[in-house]
Amino acid sequence: MRTEVLAAGADAGEQSDEHVNRLGIRPVRLADFVGQAELKRHLGIICGAARARAETTEHLLFAGPPGLGKTTLAGIVAAEMGVAQQTTSGPALERAGDLAAILTKLSEGDVLFIDEIHRLSRAVEEVLYPAMEDFRVDIVLGKGPAARSIPLELPSFTLIGATTRISLITGPLRDRFGFTARLDFYPAGELEQIVARTARILAVDVKPGAVSEIARRARGTPRIANRLLRLVRDFAQVEGDGRIDEATAVEALAVFGVDGRGLDRQDRAVLDALCRRFGGGPVGLSTLAISVSEPPETVEEVYEPFLITQGMIMRTPRGRVAMPAAWIHLGLEPPEPPAAGESPDAEGPAGLFD
Ligand SMILES: Nc1ncnc2c1ncn2[C@@H]1O[C@H](COP(=O)(O)OP(=O)(O)OP(=O)(O)O)[C@@H](O)[C@H]1O
Ligand SMILES: [Mg+2]
Repeated sequence: MRTEVLAAGADAGEQSDEHVNRLGIRPVRLADFVGQAELKRHLGIICGAARARAETTEHLLFAGPPGLGKTTLAGIVAAEMGVAQQTTSGPALERAGDLAAILTKLSEGDVLFIDEIHRLSRAVEEVLYPAMEDFRVDIVLGKGPAARSIPLELPSFTLIGATTRISLITGPLRDRFGFTARLDFYPAGELEQIVARTARILAVDVKPGAVSEIARRARGTPRIANRLLRLVRDFAQVEGDGRIDEATAVEALAVFGVDGRGLDRQDRAVLDALCRRFGGGPVGLSTLAISVSEPPETVEEVYEPFLITQGMIMRTPRGRVAMPAAWIHLGLEPPEPPAAGESPDAEGPAGLFD
């Protein structure tokens, strides 16, 4: 049963990264992890101190949009601590017993990584509380009035949770993490370092102009930067001579539908639906999602955060609203701003990652 649970732990994004990660693209040690300087410093301190005391680290929570390095960081913490890592995910743990089975098989010092931890059911979460706090799990034997609960001591371990939706994590669970890191989109300079690093590992010849072109269009996201580099490499191999200069990168990205600001077809479909079909909004999330044939969670977690940071859309209590930058990006004339008093009450960027 355990192998099943563990296999279900990998998410779709990771599966698509998997073959490249086998080539060593995913950073293994803290020193290989590019950018996020403050977070790296914090993790260096936390791991260094725990190592010196020969203890496990605090339980850690990594939050932020997909592809920014949450899973990578979990692996890095295990590597820095020199311990084994067990992996599962919120949706894979259906019953309390599924989690109890994993917990009781942990070895001293292990990292237990729970991806999409916001999707844990209540019953499973309740098993996690005493495990996190007292390294204890209560095994229930029998049913009904005859049921007995037997406390079982666990080895000390570090729980690392990852989530794209920190607002969905309950207070009691959040309180039990000793450290929470919110990952944010990467600036272009850091993405350039990531593209250059990956190019070195893949042994492809990429000119600096092409590196910055790829980084600029990567939606602030390392996973996308690596994916674009691979697409450009394929293009250069099949339609060019294998070398990647700026012109090749621009041409390749145009062929694959990635525009000058890094928006792909699906991003533009969201903007297009919002502006053309719904007159710029406000329109509810589920309506918008249906009109681009995506689940609401995908629109909310994958497409919107970047479009919000680009000042193209805004979340308001009455729905999603297109900003002038969205109209302009689509080559449309933005509508006149509404008269005072009519404007939708904006939540503003504070609501970005909930
Ligand atoms: N700071 C970084 N430096 C270098 N490469 C990185 C960095 N962050 C992420 N990557 C690369 O990006 C890919 C995606 O990262 P990762 O799988 O850790 O994202 P994630 O936050 O777990 O995403 P998801 O929410 O979809 O699970 C990794 O394969 C890794 O190679
Ligand atoms: Mg992940």
